[in-house]
Amino acid sequence: MANTILVGAQWGDEGKGKIIDVLTERADIVVRTQGGNNAGHTVFLGPQKYVLHLVPSGILRPRKKCVIGNGVVVDPVGLVGEIEGLRKLGVQIQGNLFVSETAHLVLPYHRELDAQRESLKGRQKIGTTKRGIGPAYGDKAARVGLRLIDLLQPERFEELLRRRIRENNAVLKAFGAKPLSFKKVHADYRQAGDRLAPFVTNTVVWLNEAMRRGADILFEGAQGTFLDIDHGTYPFVTSSNTTAGGACTGSGVPPHRIDRVVGVMKAYTTRVGEGPLPTENAEIADLLHGMGREFGATTGRPRRCGWFDAVATRHAAMINGLDDLAVTNLDGLDTVETLKVCVAYRAHGKRYDHVPSDVETLAACTPVYAEFPGWRAPTTRARRWKQLPVKARQYLKAIAELTGARLAIASVGPARDQTIFV
Ligand code: GDP
Ligand code: IMO
Ligand code: MG
Repeated sequence: MANTILVGAQWGDEGKGKIIDVLTERADIVVRTQGGNNAGHTVFLGPQKYVLHLVPSGILRPRKKCVIGNGVVVDPVGLVGEIEGLRKLGVQIQGNLFVSETAHLVLPYHRELDAQRESLKGRQKIGTTKRGIGPAYGDKAARVGLRLIDLLQPERFEELLRRRIRENNAVLKAFGAKPLSFKKVHADYRQAGDRLAPFVTNTVVWLNEAMRRGADILFEGAQGTFLDIDHGTYPFVTSSNTTAGGACTGSGVPPHRIDRVVGVMKAYTTRVGEGPLPTENAEIADLLHGMGREFGATTGRPRRCGWFDAVATRHAAMINGLDDLAVTNLDGLDTVETLKVCVAYRAHGKRYDHVPSDVETLAACTPVYAEFPGWRAPTTRARRWKQLPVKARQYLKAIAELTGARLAIASVGPARDQTIFV
C-alpha cells in the first residue's frame, strides 16, 4: 500500500477506526497526527469491542508499528490508562508504540479551563468533550505549552509546571473555580512520564528513516473535516487541522511523500456537540437511536443524525483532495423507504453549492434534496458488490459521484469482514 492519509469527510465518527483497522492489513505503520483523547475510534474483532482514544487503531494488528505524532496533544495519565486497558485485553504495546517527544501535554488546568469556558458560554457552548483539547492547543500556539520532552526531564518539568500552575490558578480563581495542587499534578504526571518513557522518541526521524527503507504509512485522521479549526464550522470545531494537510505537519512527513487520500463518510450524517447541521432530521435520528446506534464513543452522548449531505462531502473532497471514498454504515439505511440526499443549500433567497464560511449563514441554510428509493432489504451479509441490492448500489454510486471521488469501500457492519471492496 502507498502512503495514505485517511480523514473523516463529515463531522467525525464516520467509522474511521473500522476502516483504519481494515486498511492496516496492507500498511506497515499507522500514525495519529492531530487531536487528542477527544477522539473515540471503535474497532470490533469478533465480539470484542475496542475504543481507541490516543493509541492508533492499527495497534490491534500485532506486527504493525504505531506512532503518536508530534501534532497530537497527549494527556499522559489518560494514555497510561489506555495502554493498561489494551494490555489487559491482550494487545501487544511494547515495541509497537512510539510517541513523539515533541507532542504537547494536556494538563489538568486545560481540562478545567475547557469546562469553565463551556459553562460560561451557556447556550452558546461548543459541546466539547471536556478533554482540555482547546486550551492545550491554545497554549501550544501561545508558546507556553509543555511537551513530552519536558516531562521526561524532572528538573525542567518541575520548574515549568510550577510556573504554569501559578498562572493558571490565577485564571481559575477568576472563574471562581478551585485552584490545582502543584504537588498532586506534579506527582501524577511524573509517574505517568516514567511509565511512558520507554515509548517516547524522535518520531519524525524514525518515520522518515522507516519510509526510506520502504515502509508504507497509514495516517489515521481524528475528528472530521467540518471540525477542522480552519475549514470547519468555526467556532463549533475542534482545535486542530483535521483535514489532510494536518497529517504532514503533525508527523514530519513531507507532502510529496503522500500517495493517496481516503475520505471516510457515513451513508448518512451525524454530529455530536453543538453547531449547524443542515440535514438534521428527527425521524432518522429516532430510527438509528432505536437500533441502539449513534451514541458517542468518548462521551456517550446521543449523536445528532441527518440525511446524507453531498454539499458538505463535496467541499470535503475539495479541501482534502480525496481520491477514494469509504462509505460506512450503509446498513443503517436498510429499512428506509425513501432516502434524501442534500444536493444544495438555500439561505436568504440564494442557492449555495458549497459550504458557506459564515456559521450563521450555514445555520440558516435549508437543504435542497434529491430523493432515492430505499432498498428495504438487509445488507449486513453482503461481502461483494454484486451481493448488494441494486438500489443500494445505485445510492452508493450517486453519493460518491455527488461527492466527486472514487467509491473504494462500502461497509455494511462494524466487523472486519463486513467490508466490500468496490
Ligand atoms: P470514528 O470516530 O470515525 O472511528 O467512528 P466511531 O467509532 O466513533 O463511530 C462509528 C461507529 O460505527 C462505531 O460504533 C463502529 O463500530 C460503527 N461502524 C463502523 N462502520 C459500520 C458499518 O458499516 N455498519 C455498522 N452497523 N456500524 C459501523
Ligand atoms: P473522532 O475522532 C466527533 C467534537 C465535540 C465538539 C467539538 C469540540 O472519534 O471522530 P473538543 O473536545 O475537540 O474541543 O470538542 O468537536 N468532537 C468530535 N466529534 N468525533 C470526534 O472524534 C470528536 N472530537 C471532538 O463533540 O462538538
Ligand atoms: Mg469517534
